Amino acid sequence: METHSARTAMEEDPKHLMTQYLCLASPLQFLSDPAEELMPKSSSSAMPDPMADTVPRLTAKVHRRFSAEDAAAIPLSHIHYRPLQAEDMDEMMALHQEWFPVSYDQDFYNKSVGGHLYSLVATWPQVQHGGSASSVGGRVSAEQPEESILGMITMSTYCEHHGEAISHVLGADCEAICRRKRHRDFGSEEEHGPRTGALAYILTLGVAEAFRRRGLAKELIRRSLEYVERDLPEVQAMYLHVVTYNEAAILLYESCSFLRIEYFPSFYFLHGRHYDSYLYARYLRGSRPPWRWRVRSFASSLGQWVMSYWSSLWLSGDDDRDDAGVISATARLMLMADVNLISMMVMFW
Ligand SMILES: CC(C)(COP(=O)(O)OP(=O)(O)OC[C@H]1O[C@@H](n2cnc3c(N)ncnc32)[C@H](O)[C@@H]1OP(=O)(O)O)[C@@H](O)C(=O)NCCC(=O)NCCS
Repeated sequence: METHSARTAMEEDPKHLMTQYLCLASPLQFLSDPAEELMPKSSSSAMPDPMADTVPRLTAKVHRRFSAEDAAAIPLSHIHYRPLQAEDMDEMMALHQEWFPVSYDQDFYNKSVGGHLYSLVATWPQVQHGGSASSVGGRVSAEQPEESILGMITMSTYCEHHGEAISHVLGADCEAICRRKRHRDFGSEEEHGPRTGALAYILTLGVAEAFRRRGLAKELIRRSLEYVERDLPEVQAMYLHVVTYNEAAILLYESCSFLRIEYFPSFYFLHGRHYDSYLYARYLRGSRPPWRWRVRSFASSLGQWVMSYWSSLWLSGDDDRDDAGVISATARLMLMADVNLISMMVMFW
């Protein structure tokens, strides 16, 4: 996922922008091991042009340990979950370079592995057999008894990360929502470390290529939601930005009940071009999208319903003559329109 923080850093710091541009323009300069040049290119749905020279190769260790068949043999229920730790730094950086068309700054990685940001990593531990370690494919020797990272999510609840987005997600600014809550909890405006608030922002989420479409991303989101609901009572929604062409990610978030709240034209600058983004949010503890979103969605559903209703009336005029197939299509159309309208009415009120 290409985050707002990455974008802001790129746009505000011309030196950083230059570094970003160079990194993305010539990813091969980072390949120290010639064997890595033989590795396939990333097929990440987050890349603007999957065929471009700028698409990086798969350099993370996990790809040399697992083939697609090895990964298929690992049951989801056997995967371990834990926060990131210092030893994960290199693998995390390699995976993020494969997954995303932006470079994250060192501060992001330090905060992730140092525990300043929430993180959850899905790992597959090496299995010990009589003193020697082996992976599912049996390619890892006893000298490398490391676990493999299959996927991860990072998230922030700091106000500095949701500064502008909070008005789109909750309908008021951070001062009004987070500060009021903080004042109520602590009775004063004293410092309590970096300010956290009412939103949890998914910064990055990715799954190793061989392990995709197994439900791992969904599980990482489920566990992160569970953590927020259990341990962060002040958080009212989890949200994220996603580039509009990233269909895999969009379908993933929609399958996890995230709502498309906002559209931002030219939000990202990737590989020399501007791209739009959507903001998706999943509401918690009875919170709901702002009124303006609900009115807009209701009006648009009502419009769709009226259109579908008119088309169904028009089609059923033809149906009367003879075509039974069209009648069932009409019935389906009307049913879908009604379900859509009812669900929007529930959301509206
Ligand atoms: C997006 C990504 C995280 C999905 O990870 P995943 O583990 O494969 O996702 P899941 O298996 O949990 O998928 C859950 C649902 O999401 C949707 N989905 C995920 N990948 C999809 C794809 N390639 N095409 C269509 N739908 C997809 C499906 O609805 C899927 O349910 P289903 O498999 O029952 O149909 C992964 O493709 C990835 O790492 N991409 C590169 C990085 C990236 O784009 N991150 C998100 C940035 S916002």
